[in-house]
Parts: sequence; C-alpha cells; structure tokens
Amino acid sequence: MTDQPTQPIKKRTFSGIQPTGNLHIGNYLGALKNWVDEQEKYDNIFCIVDLHAITVPQDPQELYRHVREVAMLYLACGISLEHCAVFVQSHISAHSELAWLLNCVTPMGWLERMTQFKDKSAKQESVGTGLFDYPVLMAADIILYDAHYVPVGEDQKQHVELTRDIVLRFNNLYGETFVVPEVLIPKAGARVMGLDDPTSKMSKSSDKVGHSLRLLDPPNVLKKSIMRATTDSLNNVAFDRENQPGVTNLLGIYQAITRRSEEDILNEFTGKGYGHLKKTVAEAVIATLEPIQQRYYDMAKDPATIDQILKENADRIRPIAEHRLLAAQQNLGLRK
Ligand code: TYM
Repeated sequence: MTDQPTQPIKKRTFSGIQPTGNLHIGNYLGALKNWVDEQEKYDNIFCIVDLHAITVPQDPQELYRHVREVAMLYLACGISLEHCAVFVQSHISAHSELAWLLNCVTPMGWLERMTQFKDKSAKQESVGTGLFDYPVLMAADIILYDAHYVPVGEDQKQHVELTRDIVLRFNNLYGETFVVPEVLIPKAGARVMGLDDPTSKMSKSSDKVGHSLRLLDPPNVLKKSIMRATTDSLNNVAFDRENQPGVTNLLGIYQAITRRSEEDILNEFTGKGYGHLKKTVAEAVIATLEPIQQRYYDMAKDPATIDQILKENADRIRPIAEHRLLAAQQNLGLRK
C-alpha cells in the first residue's frame, strides 16, 4: 500500500447520514450518539452523503437546506471539530471517481442481494441506476480515507460487509490498495422501530403522525408520540422483541439513552404500568433532545459559519482521498 500523506496515529472511523430531512431518534441512537461518545478514541470523518440522497428524487430547492441541517445537527449533538472532520460528500469529487472504478470490479449479483435495494426499489415507480449502485458509492466513501471502523445502525451492516468483499476482491486482483473496514454496531439502539408499528424500522421517509421521534420535534410532540406508542395488552414489562415489540422498543430507547443494563432497567419498571414506562421514556428523550435543539437553533442563526466549516473541512481532508484514489488508478494501470 502506498504511504499516506497524513497517516493518523489513532485508528480512523468514517460514517455518514443522508440529508433527506427529518433525522430521528433512530439516527441518533444508532449512529450519532455513538460517534460523539467514542470520538476521542479515534480520528473521525463524518460525511453528509448528498450523492446518496439523490438516488431517489429530491427537491432541488430543499436539498442544500437539508445538508446544512444535518451538519448543524452533527455539531449540536456534540461532534467536536477537534476530533472529527465534517464535510459534504459531493464536495470531494474522488467519491464519484472511485465509485466508478469499484463498479468495474463489483459483480451485479452482489448488489442484487442487498436487502435495502429490494425494500427501497419496491417503493419507487421508476428505479434509477444510482439506487442499485448505492452500496458501491458507500464503499468508496469508506475506503478513500483508509477507515478501520464504520459506526452505523444495524440496517447498514450488509453494506459494510459488501464493502469488505469489494476491498478483498480489488486488493486480490490489483495488489494491496485499500484497508478492509470493520462495522461498529451499538449494543442498544442499533434498530429503533416505529412507535406506531414496532415491527417496522423507524424511518425518515415515513410522515405518518406518531411514527418517529424527530430530533427537532418540540417536547409536546415528542411526549404525545411516546404516550400514544403501540404496546400490547400483556401488562408486563420485558425485553421480548418477538412477543412484545412495542414495549421492547421503548425499553431499548431508554437503554440506549441511559446506557444502563437490561437488568437494572427491568428492576426500575417491573410491577409498574405501561403509562409509567412511557412517561419515563418521554422525560428521558426530552431531556436528551432539548439541549441539542437549543444548540441547533443557535447555530441556525449563522448559516455562513456552517458553510465555511464544511468548506474548510473538505479542503483539509481532500488530499487523503485524492492520494488513495491515485493509488487505485495506478494499480489499475490508469496512471503511471
Ligand atoms: P441513513 O441516512 O439511512 O442513516 C444514518 C444512520 O442512522 C442509522 N439508522 C438507524 N439506527 C437505528 N435505528 C433506526 N431506525 C435507524 N435508521 C437509521 C443508520 O444505520 C445509519 O448509521 N447508507 C447510509 C449512509 C452512508 C454511509 C456511508 C454510512 C453513505 N455512505 C459510509 C457509513 C459509511 C444511510 O443511508 O444512512
């Protein structure tokens, strides 16, 4: 492997979120909270993946507003620019360029197996090639920066496994070029379910009332959604995803926020009704999100500063990406 110009002392993490609006507590507990909690351990790069967002139709008037919103939420949640770079995917053209090179070594059959493609394409009238190719761009994102770890929610595990397969194939065919990354999935909060239907994943794209807890929902809306959450008639507080998915989802949210053990949490709620559980979870969610919202609205007063941060961070890390892209081009025989 060619030497890095800026080889970090700490191991590197890379992750990203799509700027498709309405970030929710699943994005926070499955990804963002863990990025913040672990940021001092690693050298981190966090991306706003606008090129992934356009794999399904987006309103061009809204897209950049959502990019800025995600950047401000990263910072409001506690991402520190001392430990992390925060940038926009389309601002570094090496992502698109490497994705093309990886396309040429990725068998279609590997992409046909991706469950997220199957789910998402079933919801679209016309499916763009970009949606099919989405995991290859995601692989490019990760390996351009020699990331060792990819902290994500459970739904992205298959994509990171595919990234590993693509790297192994490329390195095998053209010589050691890329680091093989590992997925990091949190113990609690890796798969937050919809409050209205705890058998399906909480999703940004659902606009059903009471489905998700959005990071920018006011406290009364958060409380109402939790108090109305679907549970069951067993009147028994237990972690049992199969038979009590609604109660288990609320307990999981509480566990991910408090970082307490299952046993400790059950001790707190055993013998108490679902009303008490919901009220306690609502208080914990509101206490977590209120300070984030305050920081977000403060930052939103000065969008020029956010734009400047995104530009400076992209300028700082672009050489890392260009260096790895050049190594891939050389190994493929495209460059001397
Ligand atoms: P996206 O934007 O769908 O989700 C962002 C992050 O939130 C996690 N997540 C959840 N975690 C728990 N429960 C949920 N209900 C839930 N919904 C979403 C996701 O697992 C993710 O960590 N393909 C990625 C973006 C991406 C990326 C990358 C990630 C592009 N390139 C490179 C890592 C590395 C995505 O669509 O995330």
